Amino acid sequence: MTAPHPGKRAAARAAADLVQSGTTIGFGTGSTFAFVLERLAERMRDERLVVRGVATSKATEDHAKKLGIPTLGLDDVERLDLAIDGADEVDPDKNLIKGGGGAHLRERLVAVIARELVVIVDDSKLVQQLGRAFLLPVEVVSFGLRHTTRRVAATGCEVQQRMKNGVPFVTDNGNLVLDCRYPGINDPAGLQRALDALPGVVDHGLFVGMAGRVVVGDASGSVRILP
Ligand code: A5P
Repeated sequence: MTAPHPGKRAAARAAADLVQSGTTIGFGTGSTFAFVLERLAERMRDERLVVRGVATSKATEDHAKKLGIPTLGLDDVERLDLAIDGADEVDPDKNLIKGGGGAHLRERLVAVIARELVVIVDDSKLVQQLGRAFLLPVEVVSFGLRHTTRRVAATGCEVQQRMKNGVPFVTDNGNLVLDCRYPGINDPAGLQRALDALPGVVDHGLFVGMAGRVVVGDASGSVRILP
């Protein structure tokens, strides 16, 4: 396994330091977010920080439990003070591709009830245009998969079904993921509308106009915040 980009840890720790005691936080998913939990656990120990979170995946839930960080269900809260999460690509308008880990449906459901979605990335994820390098994940139901795949492809992409260990990847919600190769996404909002309208599509990894601050870490471990 290759070592994670050092900017991930730096960005994650800086975002964890934005968390105020007594707050309830949306806990994202992925290798970057994992560093947030580690930093929160340190702060709970060293500063007596009091924090709870709503996890966006079983993996994050398990990690939080292991570190002794309390979690709640999404329906147990009205609002979240902050959500913190990684991303796969961030464009100059702070539109995102998410879902490399297949958790994007829960990530969106958690982010929309947060006062702010703070995004944590290393600087390799800042791109001029979404979708040129990273495949856009689209979560679909298994019923009628062939038809849904055709409808998704008609939005202008090549579709491949995500596999894991030789079998179809299944999300925490029991659905499948199509990874879609676009020749660059010119109009993220338009594509979002098109995908949202397709029968069989549950959600996708395009997060348009949702990001608040973007915390970017570079290879030297320095951090800058895009407001
Ligand atoms: C999970 O489904 C994703 O949206 C992640 O937040 C995203 O893929 C970033 O992952 P890493 O932090 O592992 O790069």
